[in-house]
Amino acid sequence: MSPLEQFFVQKKILITAGATYENIDPVRFIGNYSSGKMGIALANAAHTLGAKVLLLKGHTDKSIQIDSDIEVIDALSAKAMSELCPLHFKDADICIMAAAIADFSPAEIASQKIKKSDDVLTLTLKKNPDIIAGLGKQKRPHQYLVGFALETENAIAHAQAKMQAKNCDMLVLNVLNEGNQVFGSDDNRIQIFTKNNPSPIFYQYPKTVLAKYILQEINNHCKI
Ligand code: CTP
Repeated sequence: MSPLEQFFVQKKILITAGATYENIDPVRFIGNYSSGKMGIALANAAHTLGAKVLLLKGHTDKSIQIDSDIEVIDALSAKAMSELCPLHFKDADICIMAAAIADFSPAEIASQKIKKSDDVLTLTLKKNPDIIAGLGKQKRPHQYLVGFALETENAIAHAQAKMQAKNCDMLVLNVLNEGNQVFGSDDNRIQIFTKNNPSPIFYQYPKTVLAKYILQEINNHCKI
């Protein structure tokens, strides 16, 4: 067994992946472009290393293969994520929050399809709970919490501030540079922040390769 397998074998890992959809009416929603590739790559890689993985799955690209004996629970909206994450976090050794969870949802969901009666339609959105910040508060000393971030300006400063504010042990920054298409792409460019230091940037690798780097970094820094 490799040192990485020795670390992950039997560890309970909670991973979120994909996009949440926030219903507007019975036929419309607010969503985002997350495909779930990064989160599912992490789930598959952790499972291959012997971890017990629970995947809370938002809307994901159906063509992405999930290893068949990974436990999967659908969490298709921010509300579902906000109920399921704290519940399952209690039993987790490591939690990786890779899902793109909506920050805002419609204040009211129309029970019937909204008709186009006026030229302008105003939607009122309410802020959703910051789930990872809640997990950061709930976190016990033996638990390790990993967040993701996507920033379009002052990325390093924002990533470090976000990690501290949410009490994460590690934050994976999607590095947005020209040519790096994060959403839906097989490749990505990331920088990993831990309490001590940021790592160098991992340039343009397939998400399946980045998943192994991230797990290796968790093994390097996590003392449980
Ligand atoms: N996240 C969460 N709850 C939400 C929204 C996001 O737990 N309601 C998690 C994501 O899964 C991710 C992390 O928070 O791991 C960072 O998400 P991001 O959208 O980059 O950060 P925000 O804190 O929402 O900050 P902002 O949008 O203001 O940059």
